[in-house]
Amino acid sequence: MLRVKGMPAVGFGLWKLAKEDCAECVYQAIAAGYRHLDSASDYGNEAEVGEGIARALADGLCQREELWVTSKLWNTYHAPEHVRPALLKTLADLRLDYLDLYLIHFPIAQPFVPFEKRYPPGWLLEPDATQPRMELAAVPLYQTWQAMEALVEEGLVKQIGVCNYNSGLLHDLHSYARIKPAMLQIESHPYLTQERLIQLAQQYDMGVTAFSPLGALSYLELEMAGAQESVLQQEVVQAAAARVGRTPAQVVLRWGIQRGTAIIPKTSRPERLRENLALFDFSLNDDEMAAISALNQNRRFNDPGAFCAAAFNRFHPIYD
Ligand SMILES: NC(=O)c1ccc[n+]([C@@H]2O[C@H](COP(=O)([O-])OP(=O)(O)OC[C@H]3O[C@@H](n4cnc5c(N)ncnc54)[C@H](OP(=O)(O)O)[C@@H]3O)[C@@H](O)[C@H]2O)c1
Repeated sequence: MLRVKGMPAVGFGLWKLAKEDCAECVYQAIAAGYRHLDSASDYGNEAEVGEGIARALADGLCQREELWVTSKLWNTYHAPEHVRPALLKTLADLRLDYLDLYLIHFPIAQPFVPFEKRYPPGWLLEPDATQPRMELAAVPLYQTWQAMEALVEEGLVKQIGVCNYNSGLLHDLHSYARIKPAMLQIESHPYLTQERLIQLAQQYDMGVTAFSPLGALSYLELEMAGAQESVLQQEVVQAAAARVGRTPAQVVLRWGIQRGTAIIPKTSRPERLRENLALFDFSLNDDEMAAISALNQNRRFNDPGAFCAAAFNRFHPIYD
């Protein structure tokens, strides 16, 4: 399979995979040929992901070394003394002894919540309070990065990187990183093409992973997008799908890998698992690539500047 900085270009995204389906979905994904899993402590399903991986390995579907497993450090574990325990918890849940890639989930530090109090802790410090609120902790990102570097040196993670950084934070990170970030994971799809940020990351020799590669679809159930915002309805997407004889979703995903980003689509449906991986026996022509890129509206569905105020009682933009 095509690779982005050594990582399989198509991964299986695990956010919002229900616990009860998760182990079986992970097993089915590996059986269908996925060799890259995009996990996170915050998704609340790492133990079930680990169960699916363990079953797949035990059944001989692949070897551990053929799998690329990414996970992410949650906001409440940014203080240097919490980074290693957070990674060890993730490794224990995933039943692995190393990660291929560990990412800082958000450039947002929040107060520590002990594992035994709540795991994963989410965004709110005291969810049961009468007026629950997202709180912040004064932890500079360079300190978190130094603790991430120590994980590489100890052999617990092969590579480290960041999510949801803007260009200013990337410049800053590169000014102090002893171990350079291998990957930038950001929201990107035809309505949020992020060309300059992607170009900058590539200039820094980083790979780029596009999350929510299908755009609005992930955000309908969260009421953070409207059905009319689906890029699959766009005429240029539908015309390309008709020409290549594929689904509109496959066209949007193919656009993602053809522009050089990795993609990590999530689905809980077996037939879509196969659909979302079947992207390598067709291609889009230059006109189709350009027309899909031209759909850009800088529409960000996953925006702390919007959802923190709406859901967590705190205005906290990070991209503006
Ligand atoms: N780093 C971060 O901050 C961050 C943020 C968000 C996401 N992520 C990662 O990126 C992954 C992907 O993003 P995402 O889950 O937000 O969005 P996504 O993969 O773009 O879209 C998922 C949605 O699309 C539907 N879908 C999947 N395949 C489809 C197809 N072939 N045709 C039609 N609908 C389809 C799914 O429904 P069904 O399940 O019903 O098929 C689901 O509602 C996540 O799972 C997570 O691993 C990272």
